[in-house]
Amino acid sequence: MELFLDTANLDEIKEILTWGITKGLTTNQKIFQKEKGTDFKDHVRKILGMIDGPVSLEVTESGLEGILREAEEYSKWGKNVVIKVPMWGDGKGLRIASTLEKRGIKVNMTAMMSTAQVMLAASAGTTYASLFYNRIKDANEDPERVIRESRAILDAMDTKTKIIVGSIRDPSDVVKAALAGAHIVTVPYKMLIKMPFHQKTEETIKEFDSAWADFIAGQKK
Ligand code: E4P
Repeated sequence: MELFLDTANLDEIKEILTWGITKGLTTNQKIFQKEKGTDFKDHVRKILGMIDGPVSLEVTESGLEGILREAEEYSKWGKNVVIKVPMWGDGKGLRIASTLEKRGIKVNMTAMMSTAQVMLAASAGTTYASLFYNRIKDANEDPERVIRESRAILDAMDTKTKIIVGSIRDPSDVVKAALAGAHIVTVPYKMLIKMPFHQKTEETIKEFDSAWADFIAGQKK
């Protein structure tokens, strides 16, 4: 199980990289909206200069040829660029994903909510299949069941496709997604910075610090 960062904010990336816990990153149009005012290509280049692992960039065009051109262009920006292609309901995304993978461009099939969608993405040969934990919950379905079923099917298919779970709104979602079988959980900065904290850990550190101060005070001069 791996952790990815779900952000395009350079300060957030810089800080979390110092923790040494992550190598990959995912973005989407909403994540870039928070970086409004920056130049997209320039900003992505900065991210690629910081992240060695996979960096997912989502296509924004709507026509088939336009999307393929956009994906080809992004993939020239760095060896670690992964193209996020939505699982459109008409199958267009699958057609694009399989074409890109055949051309040697890695695809992260995204915005998926069901096991059937993951099965299709894996059959199309995508490198990643992204399930959206809390958006599945919003649809009154059980994200843990969807992840569990998807993982069981991928294991049975013996495919290279890895499940990325996004749409994390609470640190506990990360653990639940990992236990359910996610290969990767992509976590927003706001959730990640909460994860090292536990009240009892803080109390324990204080207790040990005060025991140490007591020992030092009692040392023979
Ligand atoms: C994952 O790849 C997506 O970027 C993200 O996690 C979507 O989550 P949201 O539901 O917060 O938009």
